Amino acid sequence: MKKILIIGSTGQIGSELSVRVRSIYGDNNVVCGYYAPPFPEGFFEAGPAIKIDAQQIKQIADAVRKYDIDTIYNLAAILSATAEKNPKLGWDVGVGSLMNCLDVARDYKCGLFTPSSIGAFGPNTPKDNTPQDTIQRPTTVYGITKVLGELVSDYYFEHWQVNTRSVRFPGLISNVTLPGGGTTDYAVEIFYKAVKGEVFECPVKAGTFMDMMYMPDALDAMIHLMEANPEKLIHRNSFNVTAMSFDPEMLYAAIKKYYPNFKMVYNIDPLKQAIADSWPNKLDDSCARKEWGWQPHYDLDKMTADMISKLSGKLSSRA
Ligand code: SER
Repeated sequence: MKKILIIGSTGQIGSELSVRVRSIYGDNNVVCGYYAPPFPEGFFEAGPAIKIDAQQIKQIADAVRKYDIDTIYNLAAILSATAEKNPKLGWDVGVGSLMNCLDVARDYKCGLFTPSSIGAFGPNTPKDNTPQDTIQRPTTVYGITKVLGELVSDYYFEHWQVNTRSVRFPGLISNVTLPGGGTTDYAVEIFYKAVKGEVFECPVKAGTFMDMMYMPDALDAMIHLMEANPEKLIHRNSFNVTAMSFDPEMLYAAIKKYYPNFKMVYNIDPLKQAIADSWPNKLDDSCARKEWGWQPHYDLDKMTADMISKLSGKLSSRA
């Protein structure tokens, strides 16, 4: 049985990953490392939880020893637009936390999952059907830390056999915990505005295509990759994965089927637009499909239907 530590368990991914892995591996076999609120209801009762600042290696090592951890999900992150505004923070969290996790994983023989991103690509990467192995010259702090993370994670595997694995996540859409400071966040925020009956101001232009994924598929990706047979893995850090690619107009049209009076206007954020323009339109994720059976279940319409049904329940119960 796995003993899992999730670092960043109250964040956008961690808040849902912790619930899912507890349902698979058992409440007491999953330790939620948290740094900051919000704490979901029942967070401290659901299973073991411990405060961890991922920039303090001792705090990670102590938790691994105390709970006899064999698998770490390192989800501490500063997203792309925030990291551009505060590069030092982006660097310290993106690289510092990962290096700490890698050293602890090596010393205590743990598997380590760290997300990479579509942000690991740059303006001279092929934009359509972006290959698994291609040019990676990102122009953002976030992207640079992701490329470094991919390379150094492969290095730890090659040199010290640390079981490092990673996927390049696209924009993640969920109805539980809001992202913050990401370039793809608009694809989450638009749903809140639609359900509340408010006008949405879109920060990126029509025609800006980016890969996206619904959170249930993202959770599947992480868990399946960590369970995958190592002999089948030709790549490790990091796999292209995607579920859909759309621009704001396509998302707007999908939402308008449910809210015909919903209104979106454009109010371009030059920073987010520049970042989005430097990223691919659509990844080729055939290596992930071949090497560990990656298969998303939500396309734009299915994700839109589920987001609206879940969010309308959640927002109306709060009213
Ligand atoms: N969602 C991330 C961001 O926008 C990309 O991985 O920063």
